[in-house]
Amino acid sequence: MRVFITARVPEEVLARITAEHEVEMHDEDQPIERARMLQGVANKDGLLCTITDRIDRQVLERAPGLKVIANNGVGIDHIDLEAATARKIPVTNTPGVLTDDTADLAFALILAAARRIAEGDARIREGKFKFWAPLQFLGWKVTGKTLGIVGMGRIGQAVAKRARGFDMKVVYYSRSRLDPSQEKNLGVSYMSLDELLKEADFVSIHVPLSPATRHLIGSRELDIMKPSACLINTARGAVVDEKALVRALTDGSIRSAGLDVYEDEPELSPGLANVKNVVLLPHVGSATVETRTKMALMAAENLLAALRGERPPQYSQSVNSE
Ligand code: DGY
Repeated sequence: MRVFITARVPEEVLARITAEHEVEMHDEDQPIERARMLQGVANKDGLLCTITDRIDRQVLERAPGLKVIANNGVGIDHIDLEAATARKIPVTNTPGVLTDDTADLAFALILAAARRIAEGDARIREGKFKFWAPLQFLGWKVTGKTLGIVGMGRIGQAVAKRARGFDMKVVYYSRSRLDPSQEKNLGVSYMSLDELLKEADFVSIHVPLSPATRHLIGSRELDIMKPSACLINTARGAVVDEKALVRALTDGSIRSAGLDVYEDEPELSPGLANVKNVVLLPHVGSATVETRTKMALMAAENLLAALRGERPPQYSQSVNSE
């Protein structure tokens, strides 16, 4: 069969797919242009896409025989699920394999924002580290503080486990509550979103983007947070109203933030890059050699299973996300 891959994948993954099918790959790291996408997908049987591709009706109309959309990534907010389902095209993703890396990165941002790590690095490189002084370059303590986790799926739970090592009190809000034994094992307690925002020193977002979670954190929610609080987002940018966040960081409604994702990626809201009390990363939650290889392999296995006429292992029409 004929497969279109929209962005470069590791050699071993490409070999795995070409062993069974005829492959056309957009052999670049740059996001694919729309015209190239529409031309590449035309009349293909399988599509292996990634999180920066907009897979909408127009794309699907180009490939009337499409049998699978295998996403190389866990978030599937860029895919028109309704249109795919109407055409009976399974959509698959890569849950599980990126849990630890994303949780590690959320924690890296917590530490970086609280202990001013990016600022400290810049200060040294600018030649401004001239002396040590008792009250110079102070940050804020992480150990023992309260962490509020918004979204208690796999990644939220992995962040909770890491927080135990820092003796943090962990509270969470989630669409569905964990059962009491899971809460006990993880050492977490459930709260409404507003209660969590009032109480937490660090708020870390771990919900998928959907109409229900778009701007879940806006001006009202940022106002409820403590003026000393820090907001961490490694999920999807649009879960937070980014303009409201810039205002909150500038007027002191919250103290700091650590962001790996942006509302209109890769663009930043006006003023965000000039805010000092925010640590900014270029969407690297899952960006380790090991995990990106596993993700691509998982996407390939999903694709190959569907092309064999089997139910793909990570069938996600019912939203298998984290
Ligand atoms: C995903 O897979 O959705 C992540 O955002 C990529 O790291």
